[in-house]
Amino acid sequence: MLVVISRTYEEMSRAAGQLVRDRLLQKPNLVLGLATGSTPIGLYQELIRMHREEGLDFSWVTTFNLDEYLGLGPDHPQGYSFFMRENFFKHVNIDPGNIHIPNGLVEPAQIDEYCARYEDEIKNAGGIDLQILGIGRDGHIGFNEPGSSLGSRTRVKTLTAETIQDNARFFERGEEVPCYSITMGVGTVMEAEEIVLLASGQSKAEAICAAIEGGVTAQVTASVIQLHRRVTVFLDDEAASLLKRKDYYNFAAAAERKFEDLRGGRRQ
Ligand code: F6R
Repeated sequence: MLVVISRTYEEMSRAAGQLVRDRLLQKPNLVLGLATGSTPIGLYQELIRMHREEGLDFSWVTTFNLDEYLGLGPDHPQGYSFFMRENFFKHVNIDPGNIHIPNGLVEPAQIDEYCARYEDEIKNAGGIDLQILGIGRDGHIGFNEPGSSLGSRTRVKTLTAETIQDNARFFERGEEVPCYSITMGVGTVMEAEEIVLLASGQSKAEAICAAIEGGVTAQVTASVIQLHRRVTVFLDDEAASLLKRKDYYNFAAAAERKFEDLRGGRRQ
């Protein structure tokens, strides 16, 4: 696992953007797993800038989003389809036919079948090459809340009170935050070839410390990335503030940059 600590959110987003660009240049038909929420917005802005200024091409890219609130349709302003359209898709040349986001309006009786189909679609696309993740204050990835099986697949998951409260900021006052989501499972995420996890701000410091330096546990589902063979964690200073081995991560990241040219790719 490589831990890259940047001074600011903007610097962190640029560093993550460079990794995504490198992978996209290596494989133009990259299959990207995408996250929503505040954290990846800077990364999406950086990718949009690269598309506009450098001609970064998304026309062969396929995407799979991690999750969606159950009950919110593709045009709901707080839904994740709307979020992705506004913050990323409408600004780059991605083929709308290659975009996959769980449908929050699926009929309850069809949900199991629908979730199995979402997994099949990922497999049929050749699997996810690069999965982008944020992290919740409770250590969740996707909406895999504490206690989610580390082998879980795409399914319905009930959100914790903490997550509902955190996400209330995106909803109008008085508007109810959905308490169910459809989310890729931890097992689904772990099958990606490569994982990038982003975290910014003091409110994520404890979760990051538990995920990176604590034990692997279903109580902090992000900790499962310790078992993945190819992970880069991008943090800003605040999110990294509780890490005990911060000096080593900085030393290793600097050394890694020196080796990169020689090796023509990233060490893990
Ligand atoms: C959203 C998702 C969630 C968020 C997490 C952090 O698709 O998968 O796990 O990444 O809740 O959200 P922010 O970035 O808003 O703090």
